[in-house]
Amino acid sequence: MILVTGGAGYIGSHTLISLHEAGYEFVVFDNLSNSSKESLNRVSEIIKKDIIFEEGDIRDSVSLERVFKKYTIDAVIHFAGLKAVGESVVNPLEYYDNNVNGTLVLLSVMQKYYCYQIVFSSSATVYNEIDSDDYKALEENDPIGNTTNPYGTSKFMIERILHDLHVSNNSFKIVILRYFNPVGAHISGTIGEDPNGIPNNLMPFIAQTAVEKREFISVFGGDYDTDDGTGVRDYIHIEDLALGHLKALDKISTIKDVLIVNLGTGKGYSVLDMIKAFEKASNKQIEYKIVERRAGDIAKCFANPSYAKDILGWSATKTIDDMCEDSWRWQMNNPEGYVK
Ligand code: UD1
Repeated sequence: MILVTGGAGYIGSHTLISLHEAGYEFVVFDNLSNSSKESLNRVSEIIKKDIIFEEGDIRDSVSLERVFKKYTIDAVIHFAGLKAVGESVVNPLEYYDNNVNGTLVLLSVMQKYYCYQIVFSSSATVYNEIDSDDYKALEENDPIGNTTNPYGTSKFMIERILHDLHVSNNSFKIVILRYFNPVGAHISGTIGEDPNGIPNNLMPFIAQTAVEKREFISVFGGDYDTDDGTGVRDYIHIEDLALGHLKALDKISTIKDVLIVNLGTGKGYSVLDMIKAFEKASNKQIEYKIVERRAGDIAKCFANPSYAKDILGWSATKTIDDMCEDSWRWQMNNPEGYVK
């Protein structure tokens, strides 16, 4: 049985479908602080099976232990955590408590119950910034840790903790997945990204503008050292990302050292590329205004995905058009997201 912390969230819910399709049994553990139980109902409709759900917080060892006593947990996919950069600057203690302390509690309980396999959701945000002039695709052994906000630092700290844990107890099998920019939705259009309030991330903002929930997109900076002056990122379809977790699980029992893998496509698209692709998918005109740069943003960020291919036999297959069409289907069918 696989324990999926944060399984009701955006990446978690999509991964449940991949797990089911590959024949894995799972239990979802989520405190629903930034997700909705409705996502699990929708997943249940897609996979035509009830979902085992235990509501709880990873910081609460009593609830976690209850789960480890009730089920035989062979591995954990650990998604649970807070993820808004701006909010983390305002509430750093909350971020370190949820993300770092929560992971410490989870790891202690895992160790107590002899569960040694974990796949952890990390982020490309842990990589140090590279100057635009000599920009290259990011590789797993590039320098990390020069993070610029508590969210990013919490991911970096957890990576370090996982390494130290492995040194202390090499029964632990640990895969760290560094996500680039997950976008899109399940092809059914019934599950997708449902941010609270005004979206911080580009894709949900574009999608909400296309359904006229927002008037226009503020493009943060038009003078970056990129082809069209707007920021370039490695957008990856959520279904490709979900499959990366399966490949990690398939591999995990055989690994010796902590395995760190980028999950990206290796292709960079600018903000204007994304707006244009979304216009094509939605057949709507999307208004935008170029405004000041957002503090902490960089010009370019994209993955070298070759290690993922070599070690996991995984590579992304979906295109930018798939990403926009699927996001659009989700947004159109659920303009208010999950009704909570
Ligand atoms: C952001 C986080 C990153 C996190 C990731 C999770 C920051 C600085 N970084 O990455 O740590 O892991 O989300 O998904 O917040 N943009 C606009 N207008 C908008 C929103 C975004 O022009 O309204 C631009 C940004 O400047 C950037 C691109 O769109 O060039 C993507 O932005 P976003 O979706 O927020 O992702 P990241 O900044 O790459």
